[in-house]
Amino acid sequence: MFDGEWIAQGYAPGKLILTGEHAVVHGHLAVAVALDRGTTVSLASMDGPTRIASAACHDQRLQQAVAALLPPQGVSVSIETQLPVGRGLGSSAALSVALVRANAHLEGREASFAECHRQGFVAERIFHGNPSGVDHTVCALGSAVRYRRGEPAEPFTPPALQLVIMDSGTAGDTAAMVNAVASLPDARQRLADIGAVSKAISSTLTANVDPKTLGALMVENHRLLQGIGVSTPMLDALVDAACNAGALGAKLAGAGGGGVAVALVDDPEPVLRAVQRLGCTAFSVQLGGVSDRKQRANGSDPTSTVSTS
Ligand code: MEV
Repeated sequence: MFDGEWIAQGYAPGKLILTGEHAVVHGHLAVAVALDRGTTVSLASMDGPTRIASAACHDQRLQQAVAALLPPQGVSVSIETQLPVGRGLGSSAALSVALVRANAHLEGREASFAECHRQGFVAERIFHGNPSGVDHTVCALGSAVRYRRGEPAEPFTPPALQLVIMDSGTAGDTAAMVNAVASLPDARQRLADIGAVSKAISSTLTANVDPKTLGALMVENHRLLQGIGVSTPMLDALVDAACNAGALGAKLAGAGGGGVAVALVDDPEPVLRAVQRLGCTAFSVQLGGVSDRKQRANGSDPTSTVSTS
């Protein structure tokens, strides 16, 4: 944590998209959940123009987001995150919402959801050009969400499901992937197909969920994402390895071009070992309840991630 004399702080969690990535940019349904890890922005007083004192990743878009959301003078900004950058786990969306919350805190108040949503979107546009809004919406709500662009988000309590998040080890560029998909000649039909699977997945996410049906739909979702060119050989290898190790289904999660895939499992351990054999890291996630399984492959912190309901 920031150990200087901070005067304001803001936090927001990361996210995992269960289904509907890319299609959601074009008006289809997406379903996403908040993670129990995220990003903290700490603000301290200083003389002179506002500047970023520390951040995991410095780039021009970060400078622009800070300039858009914080006062131009007198603030030193420190950013700490538990989210790997560019992996589809909402690092930019969590940062956007955390900046809004820190700025409100600086003014002696709490940011409302409406403010996080409106102002967070200003920063998300800087990071991603044409975002659907699902990422910062789920980060601002801190819950599982059914989301359709331009409509109010629908928070819901997910059923108890055990997931494994598998990191391909490389970052993707969301803006580049979204632009590439939009320029596909048959984008409209392909995105409609993804939208249909997303609706089917959404309708399985009830207390009576049938994990086999959900798993099969996740595999279908992954094949459709392959079809629009956003998977990578390592994401495909992770999906295959997870299914061969007993996962009920798996798919890439987020914009792709790198980043993570997610597997639906009964028992995370064989999948965690399979991921480790590919030289990648993974961690288990319990949806809709607290997991006592804290497993992680390949030597990183053994931290379990729990989605909020
Ligand atoms: C990125 O997390 C999700 C995408 O659908 C982009 C967006 O919704 O803005 C690929």
